[in-house]
Amino acid sequence: MNQYEVVYGQLKQAPKTWLITGVAGFIGSNLLETLLKLDQKVIGLDNFATGHQHNLDEVKALVSPQQWENFIFHEGDIRKFDDCTKSCTGVDYVLHQAALGSVPRSIADPITTNETNISGFLNMLTAARDAHVKSFTYAASSSTYGDHPALPKLEENIGNPLSPYAVTKYVNELYADVFARCYGFKSIGLRYFNVFGQRQDPNGAYAAVIPKWTASMIAGEDVFINGDGETSRDFCFIDNTVQANILAATTVNEDAKNQVYNVAVGDRTTLNDLFNAIQTALAKNDVNYPKKVIYREFRAGDVRHSQASIGKIQTLLGYAPQYRIDAGIELAMQWYVKNLT
Ligand SMILES: NC(=O)c1ccc[n+]([C@@H]2O[C@H](COP(=O)([O-])OP(=O)(O)OC[C@H]3O[C@@H](n4cnc5c(N)ncnc54)[C@H](O)[C@@H]3O)[C@@H](O)[C@H]2O)c1
Repeated sequence: MNQYEVVYGQLKQAPKTWLITGVAGFIGSNLLETLLKLDQKVIGLDNFATGHQHNLDEVKALVSPQQWENFIFHEGDIRKFDDCTKSCTGVDYVLHQAALGSVPRSIADPITTNETNISGFLNMLTAARDAHVKSFTYAASSSTYGDHPALPKLEENIGNPLSPYAVTKYVNELYADVFARCYGFKSIGLRYFNVFGQRQDPNGAYAAVIPKWTASMIAGEDVFINGDGETSRDFCFIDNTVQANILAATTVNEDAKNQVYNVAVGDRTTLNDLFNAIQTALAKNDVNYPKKVIYREFRAGDVRHSQASIGKIQTLLGYAPQYRIDAGIELAMQWYVKNLT
């Protein structure tokens, strides 16, 4: 039995109370689905800045009525300390996902990104500390590696941030570390590497590459690659990310706390290969995309290559990713074809 199976069994036996911020978003709603299916009690906080009621509705349809009754939703804003305090009351484990994602959004509007991702983070960290929660796990980001050229990425070797978004995610790590030093409040940061899967938003100017391309391909529209297509990423299927959160929240290993971890698979996929994988997976679902991709300028703030070392999270948290990119793309494409056609 691996560590995830052990923890799964323990949570089923003795359910806990969780707070998920950003619960109406992509990652938050997937965390919600898994935790409710495990009969956990969940409080969710979201202001619908980029999340959607339809994500919550979908989770409701996927769990039993009894499991749905274990969910309490607070519509609120992490920029308001009182909203954070209210949501932390009686909580065992906090999974802090709420933030404004997207490098280009942060370049267009650094102030709102800063208010949400730094002030909002500090509010949540403080409210969780004051509520004496058992653990605080937060969404960090691979963007923190910035211009550091080494591959694969090791947690201790970071470069200069390349965008306001990357600054905010790095500041989260700094605050988390300072809260451990000043108040003994230890948290865990999960540096996600390009998460993808069901319910990732395909709409809007700041959609991530997989949902954006998929929506365009289903609609028969042009697909654009920024640069030459040899830019690479360590794409991580959502279920791996959910696993990392649950392992981080529940760890009793003191050495594993006040740490940051890469959350990925340890693979490197170019955008050209990604396009081919999506095209193939869509064809299996009877969606054929006959066009070629169109190459255009590189995008400001983008890192050229990204690939994680996942040794640290494997060793200290017992993480064992269950999905590599092709298996994840197949599942994601089934969801997009069902929901977008
Ligand atoms: N998806 C990725 O590949 C990826 C990679 C690295 C880091 N992350 C981080 O993971 C987290 C979740 O990302 P996601 O992909 O699910 O994005 P998402 O946009 O789908 O979810 C973010 C959620 O936070 C909510 N939110 C935003 N501002 C808020 C506020 N002020 N108060 C309350 N709620 C607020 C949004 O409404 C949304 O539901 C974010 O912190 C993001 O920075 C994601």
